[in-house]
Amino acid sequence: MPIIITRTVKIVIFLFLLLISILLLIQKSYAKDISKSIENGQKKAAVCAACHGVNGNSVNPEWPSLANQSVKYMVEQLQHFKSGVRKNVLMSSQATNLSTEDMIDLSNYYNHQKPNIKAAAANEDVLILGETIYRGGIINREVPACIACHGPRGAGNNKAGYPKISGQHSLYLSNRLKAYRDNYDNRDEYGHNYSIMSQISFKLTPKEIEALASYMQALY
Ligand code: HEC
Ligand code: HEC
Repeated sequence: MPIIITRTVKIVIFLFLLLISILLLIQKSYAKDISKSIENGQKKAAVCAACHGVNGNSVNPEWPSLANQSVKYMVEQLQHFKSGVRKNVLMSSQATNLSTEDMIDLSNYYNHQKPNIKAAAANEDVLILGETIYRGGIINREVPACIACHGPRGAGNNKAGYPKISGQHSLYLSNRLKAYRDNYDNRDEYGHNYSIMSQISFKLTPKEIEALASYMQALY
């Protein structure tokens, strides 16, 4: 009897160690794939730097920073620019020749860059209005709290494809909110995620948009 038990225990330990080594191997090859993808992305990003800045920190407040942006969101937006669902004079042509692999490499590269964060030049009461809506929404107009999807520190949610909005230029953020509001779409014409933001932005006043954009720029 004791011999059988020790043998069983040995087999269990052996299988356990085997499983651990397989998992470690998988993890290692995944890490290698990611670092290769980042390396390729860095090479491909040379053309993007002209507008999105070195390491994805854009110096023009109308052009978005990409440093540390969620991968899923960036890949989706690049596909939208390529297919024409999202249009922009400067950006659309940049995506025309990108393959899905290019988009993934570029997004992995930018996701791993460090953002530069600078507070927006705004008055205290403007920032307080922004924070109040960001954290609590506007109940009587059914504006949901931004925190629910963009997170307490504005980091977004990569799995859901919700973008990071912290550390982004406030001018770009307010332009985006105005675009969602002015090109109103509640029928997923520009994609389901666009519709989510369009219906939210539609309920915001220009003053509230400015306040939210100023608050989000320095949120971290
Ligand atoms: C000539 C300037 C220019 C170049 C070069 C450029 N972009 Fe852009 N990009 C823009 C502008 C402007 C926007 C914002 C468009 C808008 O407001 O809708 C943008 C938006 C984006 C977005 C969406 C960001 C967001 O937060 O929604 C991604 C992702 C992106 N660019 C990636 C790239 C990549 C990758 C490259 C290189 C292959 C690149 N861009 C090259 C100007 C440029
Ligand atoms: C239910 C989830 C949800 C809520 C709540 C939400 N957002 Fe969004 N937000 C999204 C999604 C999804 C996108 C990407 C939309 C797209 O694909 O165009 C987005 C995009 C944005 C963008 C554009 C970012 C970029 O890089 O271009 C801004 C700015 C933004 N949201 C601000 C807000 C603000 C301010 C609030 C609160 C008033 C808010 N969001 C509430 C899901 C949400």
